[in-house]
Amino acid sequence: MRLKDKNIILGITGSIAAYKAVMLLRLLVKEGASVQVVITPAGKEFITPVTLSALSGKPVISDFFGSNDGTWNSHVDLGLWADLMVVAPATASTLGKMANGIADNMLITTYLSAKCPVLVAPAMDLDMFAHPSTQRNLQILREYGNSIIEPASGELASGLEGKGRMEEPGHILEQVIQTLAGKKKLLNFSFLVTAGPTYEKIDPVRFIGNYSSGKMGYAIAEELAEQGARVVLVSGPVSISAHHPNIKVLRVESANEMYEQSVKAFQECDGAVMCAAVADFTPADKTTVKTKRGKENWMIELTPTQDIAATLGKMKAGKQVLVGFALETNNELANAVSKLKKKNLDFIVLNSLNDQGAGFSVDTNKITIVGKDNKITNFELKPKKEVAADIVAKIIEWKGL
Ligand code: C5P
Repeated sequence: MRLKDKNIILGITGSIAAYKAVMLLRLLVKEGASVQVVITPAGKEFITPVTLSALSGKPVISDFFGSNDGTWNSHVDLGLWADLMVVAPATASTLGKMANGIADNMLITTYLSAKCPVLVAPAMDLDMFAHPSTQRNLQILREYGNSIIEPASGELASGLEGKGRMEEPGHILEQVIQTLAGKKKLLNFSFLVTAGPTYEKIDPVRFIGNYSSGKMGYAIAEELAEQGARVVLVSGPVSISAHHPNIKVLRVESANEMYEQSVKAFQECDGAVMCAAVADFTPADKTTVKTKRGKENWMIELTPTQDIAATLGKMKAGKQVLVGFALETNNELANAVSKLKKKNLDFIVLNSLNDQGAGFSVDTNKITIVGKDNKITNFELKPKKEVAADIVAKIIEWKGL
C-alpha cells in the first residue's frame, strides 16, 4: 500500500483513453489512496460516473452546482485537500484550458486551486499532439511546474499510428508514487549527455554518418531532468527534440564539434553519459567543391577522430561519474570490459546488435550494465524510456544518493 493516507484528485476528460482511467483509478485505490474523481462533461460521454463512483467509493464531481438544492462543489476545498492531482487522459482542449486559465468546468477550477504536484497524461491523435498549439500549451504547463507524462507511440483509436496514446495506467501509477515520494534525487546536480550520430563531411553535399536515432540519449536526458538534474545535451543531427525545461540542447554535426562542446561542458558537470554514436574516422580532406562522377574509383582517406569518452575519462576528477555505451556485434562482454578500462569509465552500458529489439532507431533496448567493480547486471527488453530509468537509477546508486 504505497499510497496509504494520500489524497488524490483524478481528472478525467473527453478522450477514448478515459477507459484506461478506470484502470488507473483501480490501481490508485488498491495502493491505499483516497481518490476523488473530477470529470469534464465530455468525459462523461466516454465513461459513466456510476463506474467511477463505485470504484472510488465517492460521488464523482463534475458540475459546479448540486442538483437543485442550493449546494455547490467547492473547487478550493478540493484543491487544498489533495496531495496530488493527475489528469489522465488530458485532451488538447483541457491542456489549452489549463495553460490559459479558462476555468469553465470543475476540473479546471480545481486545477487552478490545487497547491499540490500536478501530473498530466495527454491522449490524442498524433496530428493534434504534434500541433504547435498543443506543444506550446504543454511547454507552458511544464513552466508552471506540472509534470507531463509523455504519451507513447503506437496504434491510436483513429486507426492511425503515431505518438498520442496515453501512457499505460501502471506507468502513470509509478509516476504518482515517485512524485509523492519526492523522488527528485538529482536536484542541484548537472549532467552532460551526448546523443545521436555525427556527420563527417566528404564534400559540400555528402557525409559519412550512421543509423543512430538519438532516442536512447534523449530518453536519458529526459530522465535525468525528471530527477531534478540540469542537463546539457550535446546532440548530433536527429529528428527528435527534448521537452524538459531543465535540458539545454547544443546541436552539433561532426565528431570534432561534439568533442569541443562536450569537453567544455564536462568541466561544470557532476557526470556524463556518452550515448552518441560518434564517428571513429573522418575524411582527411573535405573538398570544398562537389566531387563529380568519373571513371576512376574514388578513394577517401580517413583519419581517426578524438575519442570524447576517453578524453573525459582522463579529465574526470572528484566524484564525477562517467558512463559509456558499447554497441557490439561480437565478443560483446569482453569488448565492453576492455572499453570500460581503456576509457576510464565508471560503468558501461552494453547493447548488442544481435539482440532482437535492441540498438538503432527502435523504441526498445536490451542492456547489460558492467561496472568498474566488475558487477554485471542484465536487464530485460524494455521501452527505451524504462531503460533510461534503469541507467539513471544506476547513476544515483553509484553516487550513493
Ligand atoms: O570505442 P567505441 O566507439 O565503441 O566506444 C563507444 C563509447 O565511446 C560510447 O559511449 C561513445 O559515445 C563513446 N565515443 C566517444 N567518442 C568517440 C567514439 C566513441 O565519446 N570518438
